[in-house]
Amino acid sequence: MRMTINGAEVELDVEPDMPLLWALRDELGLTGTKYGCGIAQCGACTVHLDGLAVRSCQVRASEAEGAEVTTIEGLPRDHPVVDAWIEEQVAQCGYCQSGQIMQAASLLAGNPAPSDAEIDAVMGGNLCRCATYPRIRAAIRRAAQETA
Ligand code: FES
Ligand code: FES
Repeated sequence: MRMTINGAEVELDVEPDMPLLWALRDELGLTGTKYGCGIAQCGACTVHLDGLAVRSCQVRASEAEGAEVTTIEGLPRDHPVVDAWIEEQVAQCGYCQSGQIMQAASLLAGNPAPSDAEIDAVMGGNLCRCATYPRIRAAIRRAAQETA
């Protein structure tokens, strides 16, 4: 099946029901996207599918056929969210952070000036064992200001 991943057209020879997460990690070596729970409960596996944040552990590879997939590796280094994450020194262990960043980028693409309640509503499904939540929120606010 064919899809575009981080701007490059890719031919994937995998079982159609393989989770996109495993296709990305095991077939393509894009290991920035993490496995946390496998049941849509943590957000570590978040990528963009045609611009929308999805849990790649829950998306079958066949569902991405013909679509544009963006992973953390495909997010521009000068993306305002990446800048803000560095400025706020958000990461602790880092495991959840690629999912957090992809979720935040999707949030700001659809809502460039979210309220704290809107941030919490959208980011609430992305868990962080290190409890970096205050810095995540600060980074999203900073990125929103930078893009205003
Ligand atoms: S690994 Fe997909 S939501 Fe947890
Ligand atoms: S930074 Fe450690 S789980 Fe989020």
